[in-house]
Amino acid sequence: MQDKVNQYLGEIKDFSATGKEQLEEFRIKFLSKKGIVPSLFAEMRNVAPEKRKEMGLFLNELKNTAQQKVEELKQTLESKQETRKANIDLSMPAEFIELGSRHPLSIVRNRIIDIFSRIGYSVSEGPEIEDDWHNFTALNFPEEHPARDMQDTFFIEKNPDNLPDGGQVALRTHTSSVQIRTMENNQAPIRSIFPGRVFRNEAISARAHCIFHQVEGLYIDENVSFADLKQSLYYFATEMFGEGTKTRFRPSYFPFTEPSAEMDISCFICGGEGCKVCKHTGWVEILGCGMVDPNVLENCHIDSKKYTGFAFGMGIERITMLKYQINDIRNFFENDIRFLKQFESTV
Ligand code: DAH
Repeated sequence: MQDKVNQYLGEIKDFSATGKEQLEEFRIKFLSKKGIVPSLFAEMRNVAPEKRKEMGLFLNELKNTAQQKVEELKQTLESKQETRKANIDLSMPAEFIELGSRHPLSIVRNRIIDIFSRIGYSVSEGPEIEDDWHNFTALNFPEEHPARDMQDTFFIEKNPDNLPDGGQVALRTHTSSVQIRTMENNQAPIRSIFPGRVFRNEAISARAHCIFHQVEGLYIDENVSFADLKQSLYYFATEMFGEGTKTRFRPSYFPFTEPSAEMDISCFICGGEGCKVCKHTGWVEILGCGMVDPNVLENCHIDSKKYTGFAFGMGIERITMLKYQINDIRNFFENDIRFLKQFESTV
């Protein structure tokens, strides 16, 4: 018993508490009704009578040491709190609260919306799950076009009875589908952009992802010409990439536009001299565009004799990667705070 008491004495002397809860635990352990000290006193019964007095004194010492320790620590903790209170200086600036920052893709999307809003474009959105008609057929994709192939498209459901076009439902592969919905539901003239998320069955790499974002644009009115398209997109390019940005249009092919083109801008890094970003060509491709094919207008019940229009589509990731010189598309989706924090903070 003596050894046990000695051990407890050591434990009590060494004890210190960082908070009230810890101190209370200590008090309960040693001094509560069922604590160590009272139970040692209860064991006095078993001590030989001639040793009882000595043992009693010893146990009293244990009890007093424990009580003193509790008192002592209580006072220290209280005085610490007092000093903390006394040290509060109300004139000090508040503690810094870290602000979040907007995702780079949102920054660029908002900027694109802002630029086109200034020349009269409205903004609307369409569904991410699309039927074959809006994603392909109405956009003049021939039946056997490779883009309908399983390789590009995530099909969700095949042939449910109540859907048009053999009932194929897919995740939209581009925001051009929203052109169709807009033309079906609105009268010309139309001047709108459609930002949104798109999906393609592609292997994920530094340059490609199976989920990405596009902004589609559509302008339908009487007498809209290719010159209008060029001027509008030139305006966009200079607003987005800076005064002095040059544009060039290369002939291309999209089923829903005729003629079709891809627009390049002069490399804003090297000014056209040639660098890594433009692969030493002086130009970087930023979007696809063209005059809306009359078949597409007719598919949406717009009189193609009266109205003409242009459309364009760009990848938000691509523009963001160029603008901020980001070389791996996966950065956008990993949500590493060290990456995200580098862009402008929330406004
Ligand atoms: N939908 C095309 C794509 O995803 C982009 C595009 C090209 C949209 C030309 C257009 C356009 O509206 O006219 O690659």
